[in-house]
Amino acid sequence: MPEIILTGIKPTGTPHLGNYVAAIAPALRLAEESNAALGLFFIADYHALTSEHDATRLDAQSKEVAATWLAAGLDTEQNIFYRQSRIPETFELHWILSCFTPKGLMNRAHAYKAAVAQNVEKGLSEQDKGINVGLFNYPILMSADILLFDADTVPVGQDQVQHVEIAREIAGKFNHNYRKQILHLPKAQVLKSVAAIPGLDGRKMSKSYKNTIPLFAPKEKFRKLIFGIVTDSKTPTEPKETEGSVLFALYQSFAQPESTERLRTAYAEGISWADVKQATFELIDSLVSEKRERYNYLLSHTDEVEQILLTGEAKARVRAKATLARVREVVGIRGAGFE
Ligand code: TRP
Repeated sequence: MPEIILTGIKPTGTPHLGNYVAAIAPALRLAEESNAALGLFFIADYHALTSEHDATRLDAQSKEVAATWLAAGLDTEQNIFYRQSRIPETFELHWILSCFTPKGLMNRAHAYKAAVAQNVEKGLSEQDKGINVGLFNYPILMSADILLFDADTVPVGQDQVQHVEIAREIAGKFNHNYRKQILHLPKAQVLKSVAAIPGLDGRKMSKSYKNTIPLFAPKEKFRKLIFGIVTDSKTPTEPKETEGSVLFALYQSFAQPESTERLRTAYAEGISWADVKQATFELIDSLVSEKRERYNYLLSHTDEVEQILLTGEAKARVRAKATLARVREVVGIRGAGFE
């Protein structure tokens, strides 16, 4: 059996450089390197619905994420690429799993805990105020995504490791109840990336800080964003500190180690901020420009993207149906009438 690698991306914003460096690029590398493996990559559009309640935005972001994966080089022959929403088996499995999930386990899930903590901090009398049950059940839906495809390895960022552990725990309880290895236990693989990529203001690049640089911003906009990064007021020839320099960290996230060392020397010898900005812009632009063209092409040819997804979804559903049939049988939902 080839190793199955599975990961999903939630379309809650326009993909930015941080997403690329920390998630997209390493996940694609992993899929490429382990060529004995089957990779499943999907758009977790129904996960996004827990927080995105604007229809136009949800639709647009889902399309952007799909185009991003393809533009970044996802091989859709070697891997299966699909939208979570087109795999209805996911939602049936979600229900079944929820009947094996201790509520206390969900109380301890970090996204829910953080939302409650925020309410408590605000001094609200109702600690669950504004928290929808979708957010509460989020880890169960993610478990369904993973367990439906018998995934071995789930490449994720550190913040998602707890969710993969939860999937293991639910699968273990399910198997234990029926005294059978029905569900396959997955493992998280934390994606290694260079140090957190800084946003425009020097904090970690994150949609919630509004400091992101879109991965495929038009060239001129991209140049403006880079040139707008605030630096200290050292004169052009003065030596500069790499420590704490947003531009240096950004450059380092994309450069080969030798180039980074050259820039380090240039800082010590006194390179102007304008030159640092130009170098950073050129480096990143040279890495993304071809992909940006492909991205723009795909966004204006969404029918082509849709065809690719439909093909992936047909393949994914064959697997999903097999798992769900196994699960229904063992829980005692038997007989005719299933699609
Ligand atoms: N929760 C993940 C995130 O926010 C996205 C996701 C949904 C996912 N289902 C998944 C990741 C299954 C890996 C496997 O990043």
